[in-house]
Amino acid sequence: MEKYSFSFSAPCILACICILIPSVHGDLSYTFPEETKLQYVIGNVAKDIGLDVKRLSARKARIETEGSAKRYCDINLNSGNLVVAETIDREKLCGSKISCILNFELVLENPLDVHRISLQIQDVNDNAPRFPNDRITFNMMESTDKGERFRLDEAHDSDIGQNSVQEYSLERNNHFVLSVKENTEGGKYAELVMEKELDRELTKEIDLIFTATDGGTPQRSGTAVIHINVLDANDNTPVFSQSVYKVTLAENAALGAEVVTVIATDADEGVNGEVSYEFSRISDTAEKLFSIDRITGRITVNGNIDYEEETTYEMRVQAKDGSGLTSTAKIIIDITDVNDNSPRIILKSLNDPIPENSIVGTEVAIINIQDNDSIDNRKVRCSIHENVPFKLNPSIKNYFSLVTTSLLDREKESDYNITIIATDGGSPPLSTSMTIHLTISDVNDNPPVFKQQSYTAYVMENNKPGTSVSSVTAGDPDWRQNGTVMYSLVPSEINGLPASSFLSVNSDTGVIQAVRSFDYEKFRNFKVQVVARDNGSPPLSSNVTVSVFISDENDNSPQILYPAPEGKSLMTEMVPKAALSGSLVSKVIAVDADSGQNAWLSYQIVKSTDPGLFNIGLHSGEIRAQRDITESDSMKQNLVISVKDNGQPPLSATCSVYLLISDNLAEVPELKDMTYEESNSKLTFYLIIALVSVSTFFLTFIILILAVRFCHRRKPRLLFDGAVAIPSAYLPPNYAEVEGAGTLRSSYNYDTYLTTGSRTSDFKFITSYNDSTLTAGGTLKKVQNETLAASLITLNNIGEADEVRILAFPLFGDFVI
Ligand SMILES: *[C@@H]1O[C@H](CO)[C@@H](O)[C@H](O)[C@H]1NC(C)=O
Ligand SMILES: *[C@@H]1O[C@H](CO)[C@@H](O)[C@H](O)[C@H]1NC(C)=O
Ligand SMILES: *[C@@H]1O[C@H](CO)[C@@H](O)[C@H](O)[C@H]1NC(C)=O
Repeated sequence: MEKYSFSFSAPCILACICILIPSVHGDLSYTFPEETKLQYVIGNVAKDIGLDVKRLSARKARIETEGSAKRYCDINLNSGNLVVAETIDREKLCGSKISCILNFELVLENPLDVHRISLQIQDVNDNAPRFPNDRITFNMMESTDKGERFRLDEAHDSDIGQNSVQEYSLERNNHFVLSVKENTEGGKYAELVMEKELDRELTKEIDLIFTATDGGTPQRSGTAVIHINVLDANDNTPVFSQSVYKVTLAENAALGAEVVTVIATDADEGVNGEVSYEFSRISDTAEKLFSIDRITGRITVNGNIDYEEETTYEMRVQAKDGSGLTSTAKIIIDITDVNDNSPRIILKSLNDPIPENSIVGTEVAIINIQDNDSIDNRKVRCSIHENVPFKLNPSIKNYFSLVTTSLLDREKESDYNITIIATDGGSPPLSTSMTIHLTISDVNDNPPVFKQQSYTAYVMENNKPGTSVSSVTAGDPDWRQNGTVMYSLVPSEINGLPASSFLSVNSDTGVIQAVRSFDYEKFRNFKVQVVARDNGSPPLSSNVTVSVFISDENDNSPQILYPAPEGKSLMTEMVPKAALSGSLVSKVIAVDADSGQNAWLSYQIVKSTDPGLFNIGLHSGEIRAQRDITESDSMKQNLVISVKDNGQPPLSATCSVYLLISDNLAEVPELKDMTYEESNSKLTFYLIIALVSVSTFFLTFIILILAVRFCHRRKPRLLFDGAVAIPSAYLPPNYAEVEGAGTLRSSYNYDTYLTTGSRTSDFKFITSYNDSTLTAGGTLKKVQNETLAASLITLNNIGEADEVRILAFPLFGDFVI
């Protein structure tokens, strides 16, 4: 049992008085702790009011509450004790009020007496401090400064006074301490004070146990967990895995090929740790060639990498995190050479064209070979592939001179395609070729050459001037004027006349034309030289012989020498009466200036007094008796003879032959009657004298010749050369053959007749060009036989041989040499 001091403070009492009923008599006041057991004795009311315990029941003592308020205590009527009737929770009754007083009234009856009982409930530490939340969460930047304060939730303790929260404490840690402060109401609160900065990269979260303790006995406490989320601050720069990245890259790397991937890490979180990459110090060229992935840091090829442009690239890469912290790394990219450049052939100079007479070793061109690659890739070999007479002479610094290796001949190869191939030493090697087109220029080194060794031309006589006779052609393989051939005649003389008066040569075409009309009877052939000359300087030339043969044309009719043509003479041949069949009676002599067939004469009797009595040798012209002459035959016989040559068309002449069949000239009365004979007798006489003298001279001459011939047998022909005129009649048979020509190849026999031509006067002068030939020397040797006056007559008498007859006028009879 405890006796509590009866005390109360004046203001409280005053308030009580104001609130409670004013008519109270003798107040009782007790103090006792809360949460006591039931029947806990608060005090002895009976004693305190001075009332006998026994009377309590009689006086119906009881506790009254005001209104419906709960009656926490009761009075034990037996002992007069005031006991706890219901557990009292001060905190329930009074909350946080400092004093907690319950007021009751003790009512006594008989007589009514009311006592006020005031029960002061004392606090007992029955409540522990309590935080509003078990978990106090802070999101704290790691960058938070030292000393920063964070106010913590206040803990609540329903108890009051010393039993309320008196103390706060914090689990030991590295970063925070507590600072406990008192608030205006006298309560205590705590602040977290940062003592050491946070580092999210080390500790992301911190949990601290925060304890509040009261001052009661026993002491009670309450805890809460302070959860600190350390928020990231961008306090880390990105860090590259290497400070220098050194890589090699082959040139011509494909677009998009990876060069290197740089990696930078940032310990920060989220945006702060998000690294992006970019080039920071990079040349303009490198910027075009490389690109970097902002996110992955992969550096790729973005352009054409050419070792020949740049062999190494250096740049910096910057890594930047989300808040802009940066760091850099260096990147060195060494480019390696790839044999990607073909050699280049540069023609430095070219002597085009070069003359064909250039000496061996003449420099034609200078070339330079270049290769942009390096080391082996730029070692270049040079060669010429075709089989051409050129070679490359290496010189310093990849210079080569192209020189000739043999003599050139434009006429064989006028141009060359020289293909130069340059191959480098790469693997695989690259090569380039260049074709030099070289022209060989002409030098006049070929003379014109005639197509034939000699030319032969045949011309019909009586040609028109200007007739083309022949044509010569010469070729010259040289170029243009060096190969342009001009023709001309070599000046020479033919028979004393310039060759140009016979022939002309068209200088361009080589056509040879006759300048004049030729006469076979004057000369039968001649030779000229035609020269072909090119137009070079100096010109080259060659010449050729053109032999011109003039062919005979039947332009001369037969000429009858004996008997004289009709109407001019009246010659009469005597025929012995006793002439037998076949005896030679007379002979018609005719000549034809033509030759060959054109001069082949045939004789025919066209008319006769007594046909059948005489006939004539078709080619000999000999008139012979066809039968024996009889007495009955007429004395006078006339024959008309036609002489015809064998030309086309044939030409002919006629003559009459008078025959007198008689043995005695006197028997010819008609002759005496010939009046004209008288007048001409004198002339006949002279003629006879002349004839006799000529014959004498002639015989003497022949004897002379024969004598000389015996003496100079070894050089018989000498006599026929030169100025001495020899009648062809004395030349040996076949002499008259035209050399080389063949047109007169048949053999000729010459009968020489000595004749008066006419008994009366007419000497027949025959002038002819005999064997007009061109000798090898080209001079025409004209052998003109002005045959022993009129007496020598050449005849062709084909068929007869070895007989040279001099047929004299019948007066002298026939005689044979
Ligand atoms: C050289 O080449 C040119 C052009 O291709 C060609 O016309 C000519 O005939 C060639 N010359 C030789 C000698 O091959
Ligand atoms: C002809 O040859 C000469 C040297 O003989 C040369 O100088 C000239 O150029 C050549 N003419 C032509 C057209 O080729
Ligand atoms: C003609 O050619 C020959 C050799 O071919 C030579 O001997 C002669 O002198 C030349 N004559 C002329 C006139 O050119």
